[in-house]
Amino acid sequence: MLDVKNVKKRFGGIVAVDDVSIKIEKGEIVGLIGPNGAGKSTLINLVSGFYYPNEGRVVFGGEDITWKKPFYRAKKGIARTFQNPRLVGNMTALMNVLYAIICKNGGENLTLHEASAEAIYYLDLFGLLKRRDVLAKDLPIYEMRLLELSRALALKPKLLLIDEAMAGLNPAEAENVSKLITRIREEFDLTIIWVEHVLRILMRSVERVVAMHYGKIIADGTPQEVSRDQKVIEAYIGEEI
Ligand SMILES: Nc1ncnc2c1ncn2[C@@H]1O[C@H](COP(=O)(O)OP(=O)(O)O)[C@@H](O)[C@H]1O
Ligand SMILES: [Mg+2]
Repeated sequence: MLDVKNVKKRFGGIVAVDDVSIKIEKGEIVGLIGPNGAGKSTLINLVSGFYYPNEGRVVFGGEDITWKKPFYRAKKGIARTFQNPRLVGNMTALMNVLYAIICKNGGENLTLHEASAEAIYYLDLFGLLKRRDVLAKDLPIYEMRLLELSRALALKPKLLLIDEAMAGLNPAEAENVSKLITRIREEFDLTIIWVEHVLRILMRSVERVVAMHYGKIIADGTPQEVSRDQKVIEAYIGEEI
């Protein structure tokens, strides 16, 4: 489904993603881990179109999308959440989801009534129905993260990119988010790349883990294999796991 080929992304002197190749098959749920600054978010940005690579290619469903804009990729079935939630703060929870649905459909084949019903459905899925009229900026971080997931899912993606869904949450909230991700994966037949800095919950929620360090992939395997990998253990020395 996704074929990232030798991508490189530089920021001035820093090589944030350094010759990374990774293939993701349809239906996989892949955890992407690595210490702070490893290049995880940059890789997500290269796949979602927020950055373009200096070298390499991004192929999705057989199509070269390396130079396509995020909007185009969203239409093709790539949706994402952000490490720091990017909601429209002065719009309600409902409007944030509705706006995404309307943008994706470009006002075609969907009445406002139908779009609203869809938005409500996706809010409800994440337990946000009673919060529909609250401005996004007034939501606690937990509900912001749920709203981002709800908005991403409302785009009916094939590939969902999650950049730190559990950061800033308490253990019970993080547990609930991971349950919801597992549930939507099955219910909506999703392929998921899930970046997480805290590994405890991630490791038991995914089937494959890819570890990055200094912009390169240092391990790729089952959670058990990767958590025992010497290079991974060394990369995390001095970090809280
Ligand atoms: N927009 C940017 N401008 C300059 N440097 C950046 C930018 N985005 C990321 N970087 C740098 O690239 C490296 C990788 O960052 P990032 O992908 O955010 O890592 P991670 O998500 O794994 O913590 C870091 O050294 C970071 O400072
Ligand atoms: Mg990051």
